[in-house]
Amino acid sequence: MATNLHRLIAKEFGEDFAWGVAMAAAQNEGAWSSYGKGPSIWDNFSRRQGKIKGGGKPTIACDFYHRYKDDLLMAKALGFSVFRFSISWPRILPEGTGKVNKEGIAFYHRVIDECLKLGLTPYVTLYHWDLPAALEKEGGWTSHLMLRWFVRYAALCAEEYGDKVKNWIVLNEPFGFTSLGYMLGKHAPGRIGLSNFLPAIHNTALAQAEGGRILRQLVKNAHIGTTFSCSEVLPYTSSPEDIQAAKRVDVLMNRLFIEPALGRGYPREDFKFLDKLELHNKSWKYTEKMHFNFDFIGIQNYFPVVVRHNALIPIVQASEVKATTRKVPHTAMGWEINPDSFYRLIKRFWLYGGVKEIIISESGACFKDELVGGVVDDQQRIDYYQQYLLALLRAKKEGVNVKGFFAWTLTDNFEWAEGYKARFGLIHVDFNTQLRTIKNSGYWFRDWLSGK
Ligand code: BGC
Repeated sequence: MATNLHRLIAKEFGEDFAWGVAMAAAQNEGAWSSYGKGPSIWDNFSRRQGKIKGGGKPTIACDFYHRYKDDLLMAKALGFSVFRFSISWPRILPEGTGKVNKEGIAFYHRVIDECLKLGLTPYVTLYHWDLPAALEKEGGWTSHLMLRWFVRYAALCAEEYGDKVKNWIVLNEPFGFTSLGYMLGKHAPGRIGLSNFLPAIHNTALAQAEGGRILRQLVKNAHIGTTFSCSEVLPYTSSPEDIQAAKRVDVLMNRLFIEPALGRGYPREDFKFLDKLELHNKSWKYTEKMHFNFDFIGIQNYFPVVVRHNALIPIVQASEVKATTRKVPHTAMGWEINPDSFYRLIKRFWLYGGVKEIIISESGACFKDELVGGVVDDQQRIDYYQQYLLALLRAKKEGVNVKGFFAWTLTDNFEWAEGYKARFGLIHVDFNTQLRTIKNSGYWFRDWLSGK
């Protein structure tokens, strides 16, 4: 139950603050090979032995494709006013380019129309990691043709949905999908090494800005943003080696994509390794092309990172000292819970010149939820949200122009390489029956938001 204190705080965010839930096509939709959809890199990657914990695949996920009406109704019933979702590129362009799949196009019209009918403002992400497999065969994000493919896809989305959808997010976490997918091989498409990572970085930085330009050109009165995964990076000790290691990791995790977007080019001066990007970017003539005047940036922070110098690790020469080792509060994924760090990170991103507005486009936590007698008592998640919202309010009161908070996520879903065991939802899903049960954290949000 919400206490009076909660009610007071929810009001303090202001009438125009956007409260939302976020999700992604590959994690929720299912219907992976139906209604004309082409395979994505995640459909293929999840078929490879040992890539996903428990062998989970996004084939059915939480069946959002067929259950979107019920799920949207629940988002509304919990009091949210924004629904952030992504378009599956291979659902509307099964080959990545070329022929348009009319059934796929129609599906997102239905989702958008339902949002509008319920009074949920749609925030649409163009790319949340499910690249068409056909494009991966041609090189995926490492190919210089990516810009052309992405422009075609972005233009199609803008032309189809731009009359109804005004809020757009170009990319979800560019560092996430380039590093995990093209350097470390832990996410789709499972590639490793610098020969993949470096061109993927550059093509992504270009697509990030170009996607913004296409949306600006084709959607009247658009509110355009893009999201960044970010983590405060702290040295384990105050030794100069650890401090330098933290600085290098910070360049990669927090600065690599936002600085080109803001028109500063890559943060090469603080990590000379990035000079290698020059191979893919002759004479840096593209600095201007990586710049776009975004209306907002989406911040997605799940944990701070503590690192120490480690000469054995190539390039960054740093390794993480995990929250479990440091014995600090953490989620079931081992991610540190630290609302003060969240506060400092928001302030830091706000201080970048050129950031006009911030939206917390994802925030949430994974715990070992159990459904007992029809109830999921996830008090830890409630505590998490309470602490993080207080930290956010503090930053807002100190002048940060933060306009929204989108909880990750509405229903438990396909958590990428973690499969189906890692649950982040406000609503529990039984993946055998697709039965939905609102968790106590969902009810907590409902009470919190009803106090607005
Ligand atoms: C991603 C989500 C993911 C969440 C939790 C974010 O990095 O955008 O797709 O489910 O983190 O891992």
